[in-house]
Amino acid sequence: MKIMSAAAAALVLAAGSAAAQGYPNKPITVVVPFAAGGPTDITARIVAEPMSKALGQNVLVENVAGAAGQTGSTRVAGAAPDGYTLIMGHMGTHAASVGLNPNLKYDPATSFQPIGLANASPIVVVARKDFPAKDLKEFIAYVQKNPDKVTQAHAGVGSVSSTTCILFNAQAKLGKVNAAAYRGTGPALNDLLGGQVDFMCDQLTNLAPQINAGGIKAYAVASAARSPAIPDVPTSTEAGLPGYRIESWNALFAPKGTPPEVVAKLVDALDKALNDETTKKRFAELGSLLPTAEERKPDGLLAVVKRDIDMLTPTLKASGVTIGN
Ligand code: MLT
Repeated sequence: MKIMSAAAAALVLAAGSAAAQGYPNKPITVVVPFAAGGPTDITARIVAEPMSKALGQNVLVENVAGAAGQTGSTRVAGAAPDGYTLIMGHMGTHAASVGLNPNLKYDPATSFQPIGLANASPIVVVARKDFPAKDLKEFIAYVQKNPDKVTQAHAGVGSVSSTTCILFNAQAKLGKVNAAAYRGTGPALNDLLGGQVDFMCDQLTNLAPQINAGGIKAYAVASAARSPAIPDVPTSTEAGLPGYRIESWNALFAPKGTPPEVVAKLVDALDKALNDETTKKRFAELGSLLPTAEERKPDGLLAVVKRDIDMLTPTLKASGVTIGN
């Protein structure tokens, strides 16, 4: 009996390992846990094409929006760990969510097999183009004086846009601000362009073309230096709010338990996609920053996830904002 069990176990292992060696033999799905057209979607679609080339199979993007990215993340955490279902997560789904959702159904640090960081993106404070403030100081003064007249757009509590505006609103002492939640900052940006909402804090990846075309106003980039993609926009320090410094990132994760051979192929494909000239050009135009060699690997990504959970959780818990308010 014991021998039979050992043999059966060996057979299962051998079958798993053979499947991993033949990987991939069908299309791979990358879940984007937000609506199409936003920064997570843009990033996933930019890397999907060169990853398809590297893997010899189509890498397809599927938008599974809801609950600030937590619906798609929960689905992928529970998917078969075979390398065919991945998620493009970010600083919201895989770090901020911990401090904002006491009922989170996954643990960003342990429910996934990290693959690697795809990019980093500066955060920019932007407003509709006719907002009555010419710079950040005037913007802050206006919101403080007219809280009822102003609506902030975000992609749900726990998203990057919500999290980075919780930090901005606290730094700028804006008090309680009206907010409108969207299924992603793609649709939120459309409403900002249309003037239905007044401002948001978002990743530059989503904003650079509209800032440069004058479709929206940019008050500050929350980085140490200006971005070459939007050279006229001051840093938060130049604009008078030096304490507001935050950057987001997107990263690829597989379900926990994905075989090491599969993980190695995905790490290699992501690295090749990031070294692709078209990827580099698109990221540069959008102000997206390429990850370091270390951050492109599972351990490097895990370190970023843990670092940001540790950095964000105390502040977000202290903000009093939770899912549902
Ligand atoms: C966010 O705010 O978390 C993202 O911008 C959502 C998105 O990619 O649409």
